[in-house]
Amino acid sequence: MNSSYDAVMSRKNEIMKSSVGINYDLYESDYISFDFEAMMSDCGFSLDEVRKIQNENGVGNTPLKECKNISALARKNAKPGYGARIFIKDEALNDSGSFKARRASMACYQAKKLGFKGVIAATSGNYGAAVASQAAKYGLKCIIVQECYDSLGVGQPEIIEKARACEAYGAEVVQLSVGPELFYKFLLLLEETKYFNASLYTPYGVMGIESLGAELIEDCIKQTGKTPEMVVCTNAGGGNLTGTARGILKTTDKKIEIVGASVNLKGLHMANDIDFNKKSFTTGHTGFGLPFMINPDRSDVPRSAGRPLRYIDRYVTVNQGEVFFITETLSALEGIERGPAGNTSLAAAFSLARELKEDQIIIVQETEYTSAGKHHQAQLAFARKNGINIFFGNPEDEIPGQSIVFPKTVDLIRAKDLDLISIKKKFIQFQMTKTKKLNNKDIQFLIEETNTDKGFVMNEIRNYNVELEEIDG
Ligand SMILES: Cc1ncc(COP(=O)(O)O)c(C=O)c1O
Repeated sequence: MNSSYDAVMSRKNEIMKSSVGINYDLYESDYISFDFEAMMSDCGFSLDEVRKIQNENGVGNTPLKECKNISALARKNAKPGYGARIFIKDEALNDSGSFKARRASMACYQAKKLGFKGVIAATSGNYGAAVASQAAKYGLKCIIVQECYDSLGVGQPEIIEKARACEAYGAEVVQLSVGPELFYKFLLLLEETKYFNASLYTPYGVMGIESLGAELIEDCIKQTGKTPEMVVCTNAGGGNLTGTARGILKTTDKKIEIVGASVNLKGLHMANDIDFNKKSFTTGHTGFGLPFMINPDRSDVPRSAGRPLRYIDRYVTVNQGEVFFITETLSALEGIERGPAGNTSLAAAFSLARELKEDQIIIVQETEYTSAGKHHQAQLAFARKNGINIFFGNPEDEIPGQSIVFPKTVDLIRAKDLDLISIKKKFIQFQMTKTKKLNNKDIQFLIEETNTDKGFVMNEIRNYNVELEEIDG
C-alpha cells in the first residue's frame, strides 16, 4: 500500500473505522449535526458496568480528601463568613497515577473484547502511561506515539518522563519532534499493526470518566451529608470535564456548578518549534483548552466524545506561577505532593473558594502523580535554562514564554474568567465554515452543543450567509 503522507491521509476514515470499531457515519445527519447521545449509548456500557470493569482493574474508588489547611489559608483572604471547604479527589492513586486510567481502562477492555492484539495511542501525556498500564493488565501489546522533542532534539522533561513510565509498563514508545507527522505516523502504525485505536476521544474513554463524577458526588454526600456547590475540572481536550459532568448528572438532580480551569499560555503555540519548550505545562492549558472547545472534532477520531461546551458553566484561567505556588502549598500544608494538572484546578479552587460561604464545598476533581521530569522543580530548572525569567511578584504580570511569576502574597492568586459567551459564538462561527445550509436538526444541535437556547443560536447564525431550510419559529 502507498505509504506517502497524502495516500495515508486519504485512507484516514477507513483506518479509523477498522481500528476503533465505531462507524461514525451512522451518527451524522444533515449539514453539521450528529447524534452525540446515540454515539455514547451505542457503546453499550452502563455506568455500573463501567465501575465494575474499573474496580476489577486497579481504577477508581480513589479517596476524596478535605484540604483543611488550604481552605483555612483561603479564608484568611476572604470576606468574613466566606471561604469554602476545598476537597480533592485523589486520582493520583489510580494505577498509573492519574484519572486517565479511567479512560484507558475502557479502551483496553473494549480492545480485548473485540479481539485486538494490541492498542495504540497518540499522546504525550498521562494517557500514554495509563494505556500502557491497562494494556499490561489485559495482556495487550501497546504502542505510544509521542511528540516530545523540538527540532534541536531537546525534549520536554515531563514528556520524556512519560516515555520512561510507558516503557516501564512494557509499551513501545515512538518519539517524534514537533510537527504534522504525529497523526500520519499514528495512522500508519494503526494500519500496519491492526491494533485498536485507544484514542482519548472515543465514547469509551469519555464514558470511563463518568465514574469519577459519580464517585465524587457519592463520596461528598458520605463525608459531609450534602452535594458540593462547585466542581473544578482541569481542562485541555475537554474529555475530563465532559465525562465528569455526565457522571455528576447521572448521580444527582442538584445543580452543581461545573468550572473548567486551564493554565494561561496565551501567545504560545502548541505546534510551534520555538514555543514548544517555552511552556512549563504540557496539558491543562489554554493552548489545548480553547481550540478544542471551539472545535472539539479537531481530535484523532471523526467525532470527539469530549464536548465541554455542553456542560461547562464557567471557564477560568490561572497562571503558571500560581500553579507552581499551589503545588508547594499542597505539599507544605497538607503533606500531599502531587503533579501539575490537578494543581491547576486547585489553584483555581483556592481563588474561587473566596466567592463561596464557609460551609459550602468545592471539589477539585483530580490530582495526578508527580515524579522526575513532572516535578515542578524540574520544570522550573528547565524554564530557567530556556531563558524564562522567574520571580515573586504579581502573577498578572506573567508573560507566558518570557516569565513565571509566583504570587508575592496569597491574596494575589486570582483565577480569571474567560468569556464563555464569546467562546460559544466562536463555536458557532466555526460550524458555519462547514456549511451553506442549516435545518431544524442543525439548530437543535447548535443549541445542545453550546448549552444555550434557540434565541441565542438564531441570533448568531444571522451573521452568516447560510440558507435556513424548513426552520420553525
Ligand atoms: C492529569 C490530567 N488532568 C487533566 C487533563 C485534561 O484532560 P482533557 O484533555 O480531557 O481536558 C489531562 C490531559 O492531558 C491530564 O493528564
